[in-house]
Amino acid sequence: MPDIRIDLYSDTVTRPSEGMRRAIYEAEVGNEQAKEDPTTNRLQELAAEMLGKEQAVFLPSGTMCNAIAYRVHCEPGDEVILDKTAHTLHWEAGGPAALNGVMSRTLEGENGIYTPEQVRDAVRGYRHHHPTSRLLHVEQTTMWGGGRVWTLERIAAVAAVAREHGMAVHMDGARLMNAVVASGLPATEHTKAVDTVWLDFTKGLGAPVGAVLAGPGDFIERAWRFKHQFGGAMRQSGIIAAAGLYALENNIERLAEDHANARALGAALAEVPGIGIDMDQIQTNIVFIDVAGTGRSAKEIHDGLVAKGVRIGVFGPTVMRALTHLDADRAAVEEAAATLAEVVAGG
Ligand SMILES: Cc1ncc(COP(=O)(O)O)c(C=O)c1O
Repeated sequence: MPDIRIDLYSDTVTRPSEGMRRAIYEAEVGNEQAKEDPTTNRLQELAAEMLGKEQAVFLPSGTMCNAIAYRVHCEPGDEVILDKTAHTLHWEAGGPAALNGVMSRTLEGENGIYTPEQVRDAVRGYRHHHPTSRLLHVEQTTMWGGGRVWTLERIAAVAAVAREHGMAVHMDGARLMNAVVASGLPATEHTKAVDTVWLDFTKGLGAPVGAVLAGPGDFIERAWRFKHQFGGAMRQSGIIAAAGLYALENNIERLAEDHANARALGAALAEVPGIGIDMDQIQTNIVFIDVAGTGRSAKEIHDGLVAKGVRIGVFGPTVMRALTHLDADRAAVEEAAATLAEVVAGG
């Protein structure tokens, strides 16, 4: 594969910065499984505070956060209600079914965001024949929905319906900090109506490993049990927790640059003949690119870009997806747009 100079395939492609690597090098460490790793403990405390929850637990990945949250909230045969585009449904290797015996009931939301009425229609009243509607799942921001931000009002409204039916509410906050920066509202506001929430350090925050799951103290205590069961308990995890701490302290506000770069990318691509961009879609760092009007497939354009050292993901026969991040500055996104124009023009 040719060298990729500009990689907009995902916001997970970032490499730890020099400052982050220094924090990793200098991390104080201990035995995490015995809760004796001081850096991990600090990260968990800071994350719990930032997310407005009693406690938090550090885990190797966001996928494990979802798996453990489902495990604690649900019994096998219970049902999670979620949007049809949810990450857990499509990109976690069937984990909810395989690891937790959980059924998924999907809602026809718009760009990953569903309504309280849709939740009300989907919740099952108790009957011993049915799966039990146990958990409502909200993805903030919506990945497949194009990085859209749920409003606080909408989160509160869907959560209220869940509560009426005795359900818990879980937030997949892989990109919660993008929502925080885009909305100008603190994470605690976004998480007020949900019971549990997790945050990924490896997306826009630029860390190499790790995520943190937060919730009530008794929930997190149970989560520790499944962290062991699922093989997520570590030893001197301060080495990676240090990167998470560095990310929380240094890389949140700068997400605004990624959002501005996403809009600049979208605006430049909108000028390319045959390319369709919905500028209203670009609320955070995700840009969907409709290439149908070029007469070329997304795969052909992808391959043409890769040959020129630029990578943008294929998300359907004629749809591509670009994500901005801290290793792609304004010049990089402008060059990516110009390169895509060349490829479309047959150059
Ligand atoms: C919305 C969403 N949820 C969950 C995940 C899984 O996170 P991880 O890759 O850390 O397992 C991702 C990763 O892309 C994601 O975008």
